[in-house]
Amino acid sequence: MRVGIDSLSLYTPGYYLDLALLAERRNTPLLKYVKGIGQERMAVPAPDEDVVTMGANAALQTLEGIDRTQIDTLIFATESGVDQSKAAGIYVHRLLGLPSRCRTFEVKQACCSSTAALQMALASVALKPSRKALIVASDVARYGFGSAGEPTQGAGAIAMVVSAHPRLVEIHPACGSYTEDVMDFWRPNYMNEAVVDGKYSIKMYLKALMESWHAYCEEGGMALGEFSRFCYHLPFTRMAEKAHRHLVRNTGTNLSAEQQAAQIDDTLIYNRLIGNCYTASLYVGLLSLLEGGERDLGNQHVGMFSYGSGCMGSFFGGTVQPGYRALLHARRHRDMLQAREALTFERYEAFYNHVAQRDGSDYQNPRNHTGAYRFAGVSDHKRLYETLNAPADQPVEAPADGDFVKV
Ligand code: COA
Repeated sequence: MRVGIDSLSLYTPGYYLDLALLAERRNTPLLKYVKGIGQERMAVPAPDEDVVTMGANAALQTLEGIDRTQIDTLIFATESGVDQSKAAGIYVHRLLGLPSRCRTFEVKQACCSSTAALQMALASVALKPSRKALIVASDVARYGFGSAGEPTQGAGAIAMVVSAHPRLVEIHPACGSYTEDVMDFWRPNYMNEAVVDGKYSIKMYLKALMESWHAYCEEGGMALGEFSRFCYHLPFTRMAEKAHRHLVRNTGTNLSAEQQAAQIDDTLIYNRLIGNCYTASLYVGLLSLLEGGERDLGNQHVGMFSYGSGCMGSFFGGTVQPGYRALLHARRHRDMLQAREALTFERYEAFYNHVAQRDGSDYQNPRNHTGAYRFAGVSDHKRLYETLNAPADQPVEAPADGDFVKV
């Protein structure tokens, strides 16, 4: 039974900060961000954007042309969830009008829960091939203001439909994983920003990569030389270069620096402009590879490594399906990135400091540029999501009951 990714879409907020502005404010050479870390811009969510609105916007696109009644599972992967109990996917389920018989739940393990969700969905579809599963991975990567992690922030979501006889990427059965209890990155419930030991997290990423690779080999996976491209979890794009060099060197593979770069370069295009999207990052890289490269990758094998701090890693592979290009939304994704508004540093700071009120009182979010959905505010401890019909430049003064999805 061939199972895998049938469609894949990306959504990222309508605002970004050019890292040249950040470099100036942080008194840091811009080359450190652009070359040393490999980032040029970072997506910044407006106050009326959250993991639900980003996820719903990505899913809206990925479901185009797909019969929604066939979706029997929605798995929402995030590490910037909006509720301790209710799955963010339930809001998305309602916003998208998915069938009530579709089970919906949220999964968590830092940046790699999206891959756990993918593996669960593959197993489910393999059991019953008439089923389709929708995976939404959505996150806001937020580090301390002025911290070393600040230039690696970002925000975005991917949504993918998993099916039998997939039209984009068949995922192979072998998957090697590794788990170890370490404190390299975490976010306690009482904090809005992650606590991170950056250098240690890179070390653990590389350790988890090799351990996952060895487990993958023991599972009967492909030889390294059989893959033509590699997608890595991208906390920042230089990480892929470090990871690939590490894997190549430690497997005794003979590849020049240029050959190594050719195997990962197209996976980095989108991330360089968006920044880290935690759970979505690996799949933003995969989409960047499929949409960004000149060469047709039909029938080529792609190796993928997912890492989630704390930590867990998984290495697995897939085969790009012939004719995949006709199914991509490349033009729309490029237009979305180009249409974003550049923030001044002051506006970035204002967006950053807008932390949802946590004292339980009601509030309304001002209207900014968003996609088809926005987070309008909170009333009686309930999050209010609005489906937009009016153009984004027509401000919504106050949320009226009838305009909102109340749960
Ligand atoms: N020109 C070019 N490169 C420069 C430079 C300059 N002027 N100044 C520094 N650099 C290079 C450094 O040499 C280094 O490259 P290297 O990794 O090849 O040695 C790179 O830029 C980063 O510099 P460094 O001093 O190590 O950065 P930092 O202390 O600010 O921390 C991170 C970088 C990634 C650890 C930090 O951004 C972070 O904590 N990020 C969040 C956590 C994370 O992403 N973890 C990854 C695993 S999940």
